[in-house]
Amino acid sequence: MERIAVLNGPNLNLLGTREPEVYGTQTLADIEALCREAGQATGVEIEFMQSNHEGELIDAIHAARDAKGIVINAGAYTHTSVALRDALSGVPAPAVEVHLSNTHAREEFRHHSFLSPVVRAVILGAGAQGYRFAIELLAGE
Ligand code: DQA
Repeated sequence: MERIAVLNGPNLNLLGTREPEVYGTQTLADIEALCREAGQATGVEIEFMQSNHEGELIDAIHAARDAKGIVINAGAYTHTSVALRDALSGVPAPAVEVHLSNTHAREEFRHHSFLSPVVRAVILGAGAQGYRFAIELLAGE
């Protein structure tokens, strides 16, 4: 079965209690369950991980090089990491960048993403549903 890697960056392990007015009350475990449901519905295996460490996320991108796709919410590294961008552009697997919040409606430093120019699509502000949309897109291609 083809697989899609769902990668989550720093502080997303705190979802549920972290700034619920911005990120909602769903936990990362809830999002994982939603992703697994979407995987079942679309016929792909889901690999789900979270790390607070940039290098671990880079290793996870390399490990997903032959996957059907990569869904990535890189958290704050989105706005800082050339290394994550280079990792995404260095593997053949297409990626979809997901953010729970609409980063363009927030502080200016969140408006720029190093990742957006090298991904297949960007989904902002759809909350946890954004992960589902990303899996549906990648699984269908
Ligand atoms: C986020 C948006 C980022 O700006 C922030 O640093 C996060 C979460 C989101 O999902 O809305 O950690 O990626």
